[in-house]
Amino acid sequence: MVIFNSVKEIQEAVAAYKTSSKTIGFVPTMGALHEGHLSLIKRCKSENDICIVSIFVNPTQFNNKQDLATYPRDLGKDAKLLESVDCDIIFAPTEQEIYNDNELAGTFSFSFNGLDEVMEGKFRPGHFNGVVQIVSKLFSIVTPSKAYFGEKDFQQVAIIKHMVKELKYPVEIIPCPILREGSGLALSSRNTLLTSEEKKKAITISKVLNECRNFVARMSPEELTQWVVNEINKVDILQVEYFEIVDGNSLQKITNWSDSEYVVGCITVYCGKIRLIDNIRLKG
Ligand code: PAJ
Repeated sequence: MVIFNSVKEIQEAVAAYKTSSKTIGFVPTMGALHEGHLSLIKRCKSENDICIVSIFVNPTQFNNKQDLATYPRDLGKDAKLLESVDCDIIFAPTEQEIYNDNELAGTFSFSFNGLDEVMEGKFRPGHFNGVVQIVSKLFSIVTPSKAYFGEKDFQQVAIIKHMVKELKYPVEIIPCPILREGSGLALSSRNTLLTSEEKKKAITISKVLNECRNFVARMSPEELTQWVVNEINKVDILQVEYFEIVDGNSLQKITNWSDSEYVVGCITVYCGKIRLIDNIRLKG
């Protein structure tokens, strides 16, 4: 495994692999890796000759400066984990290597077709603009044939698929299932910020999402939304920010189950001060 910090180095390595007809798979990350990330990397490794993982805490997707400042960074630890799953290349650039001052100042803008106006987009203004800015840049540098994204960030996957179509990148987007702890809690870098008491209570989120699937035949989407919100808010330290039942492609809310063949329930919950996200497929 090699670690590259410069765009030039990685582009040269990629060019050499392409000359020898090697296929390149790519997993973009912000580091602080856990088993959820590793599940994407294992899949990437199994489906491509070369697996490239980027580690870059992208400043332009943070709408909260404090969140950016406290984001966990430990390249040494991440590199060990990546070595253990046979990653070939880590691309860990500096901020200056990726962005010029104009780009950092927020000149980038992209047409989202409404996908960024709901759920995470509504509560984190500018977030997806920054995600598209960095992922499009990384795709141009790494030029993979396949790129792997976790369904834990369901809206991110939908937006990246839209981006690839709009900008005509020759990249196949591979959505990967959410990896969970035995308790059902979706793995996340933020879980380490939970106290053991909070972690126990956070299990309710996935439990309620799982249970709600049993009510799809009996309740309307609106009734089911209310049920989920009530059940989770019953736990003293849990506070639902939003739960929306949406079409899995357009991310628009549905009012009847017959509105869509692919329905997903997406949720964000504050567990104390920690913001957790999860989702569940309800149809299709
Ligand atoms: P990051 O939060 O580091 O996540 C990197 C990838 O790991 C994402 O595709 C995310 O959905 C996936 N992932 C995280 N937890 C997971 C879990 N429990 N199961 C399966 N996959 C999981 O998402 C980002 O970084 C950034 O927005 C990025 C795309 C790198 C752009 O900066």
